[in-house]
Order: sequence, then C-alpha cells, then structure tokens
Amino acid sequence: MLKIGQTYSQYSSFQERMWHRLADLSKAYFDNDSPYTKLIDLGCGNGARTLSCFEHFPSLHSITAIDSNPDMIREAREKNSHPDISYHHFDINCLEQFESEQFVSGQFDVLTSNWVLHWIKDKNTLFENIDQFSRSGSVMLLSSCERIPSILGDMDQVIRDYLKLDHPKPDHLKPGHLKPSRELPLYYLNAQEWCSMAESYGWSKCEVVTDIEHRCVKSDGSYIKEWYAASAGKAFYDVPFEQFDVSFIKELTQYIHARYADVKGQNWVFTEESALMVFKKQ
Ligand SMILES: C[S@@+](CC[C@H](N)C(=O)[O-])C[C@H]1O[C@@H](n2cnc3c(N)ncnc32)[C@H](O)[C@@H]1O
Repeated sequence: MLKIGQTYSQYSSFQERMWHRLADLSKAYFDNDSPYTKLIDLGCGNGARTLSCFEHFPSLHSITAIDSNPDMIREAREKNSHPDISYHHFDINCLEQFESEQFVSGQFDVLTSNWVLHWIKDKNTLFENIDQFSRSGSVMLLSSCERIPSILGDMDQVIRDYLKLDHPKPDHLKPGHLKPSRELPLYYLNAQEWCSMAESYGWSKCEVVTDIEHRCVKSDGSYIKEWYAASAGKAFYDVPFEQFDVSFIKELTQYIHARYADVKGQNWVFTEESALMVFKKQ
C-alpha cells in the first residue's frame, strides 16, 4: 500500500512547477559568491524540491528541512537524501521549540516554504518564530495559494460523507488578514497581505508574482489523488488513498464534472491562484 509520501512523489507536478518558478524568481540573489550558505525548508514534503536547492543555489553548504508528516519525511530520507541535508519530523506550529545542529551554530541565511503556509493558521507566531531563524540580510522564498479553490471544499464534503467523518468547522474570521476557506481549515493571504505582514516583521519585498493556472480534473481521477497526496489525505482523513473504492473515485469524478463543467467554455476547468514571493530581511 502506497504511503502519502510515495503518492506525493507521483502527483506533485503542480508544486514542482511552482517551486521552479519561485527559484527562478530569486536567482538574482544567489551566485557562487553569494553569502548564503544555510537554508531551512519549512514543509519540505518528499524532499524533491529541497534537494533541488543545491542546483538552484550553488552557494549553499547545508539544508535543514522539516515536515509534520512522518510519511513525507520517510520518503524524503529514502528518495532525496544528501549528506548535507538533514530532514526532521517537525511541526511549523512548534517552530520555537526546533533545534538543530545548524541552528545552534548560527542562523539561517535562506528560508523557503513552497506551497505550505496556507496550512498555518497563526501567521503572526510564524513570523515571530521565523525571526529566531533569520538574520539581517537573510532571504525568504515563499509560494502559497491566494485562494482555496471551491472544488476542494466540494470534494472534501463528498469524501467525508463516504468515510463517515465529521465535517470540519473552520474558526470564525479573526481580526487581521486571515481568511479561512469556506469549508476547509486552510488559511490564505493574498500577495498584498503577505507583503504588508512580512514588512511589519522587517522583511522587504524583493519580487512578487501572482498567477492563475487553469486546471483540469481528468476522468482518470488523478486530480483527486493529487489533492489527497498534497497533504490533505493525512491531515484531514488519516486513511490511505487505497481505502477508496475505484467506484467511489469514479462517482466523485462524475460529481465534480457535473458541478464544474463548462467553466469558461472548457470542460472541467477550475482555477488555482498562487503568489510567489521573495523577501529580504532588513
Ligand atoms: C503541498 S506539500 C508541499 C511540499 C514541498 N514544499 C514541495 O514543494 O513539494 C505541503 C506540505 O506541508 C506539510 N505541512 C502542512 N502543515 C505543516 C506543519 N504545520 N508543519 C510542517 N509541515 C506541514 C505537509 O505535510 C506537506 O508535506
């Protein structure tokens, strides 16, 4: 039976595209002579993007990577290991308790987090903790979704009914920028809100790109696998994907197609809105 980490390795081409665009966006800040040698990757997943940092940013000497899903960390250690990367099973929400060899010996020059931070509710604490890990001149590379597509909420309802699970109740809107999605406990900011928040914690905006990608839900159910593998599976349901009958996946796909057909005249297309951002600490 495939674990989430293994499924994620097969179904993360979207996150891969996001990451390579983000890395390209930050190229100007890195060359062989750049002073950036230590990187921390927050929410490293299967480690594929983490490992590629050595290619993108040749000045790096060491990488520390954390993820709250033990299956992802297992996959990262098995498939994307490197003598200068240490993978840790750790939750970003407890960042203030994180210690590693690299952390003890100095702060991080580069912080990356690709397609993760919409999972983190308390962004103020996140930024306060990030302060501990960064120094003046550090760079931070973030990608996050700007809006949770409503298709995910619809799928979640059907999956929960099938698994006979309770439906999540997102918290009420809190003061500040945080917007939980209508149905899911995912918390997103738009690029402008990210920038003002980062600025209030002493990070200057260097590069910001927003994007809307049109995505398809193919009849083979691969999108559902992708959404499930991208972390929702473990976080929301805690059951392996294989527990779903093929007939249920077919039914879910048909439901999605019926609901999302003919958006902009193209069958089964919805949009994914993303923000890619590079900041520098003052
Ligand atoms: C869509 S994946 C992105 C993984 C990786 N950054 C990439 O580009 O492929 C989101 C990851 O965030 C991790 N994650 C979600 N909430 C987290 C938390 N509170 N602490 C650490 N990792 C978290 C998930 O386990 C998952 O591996």
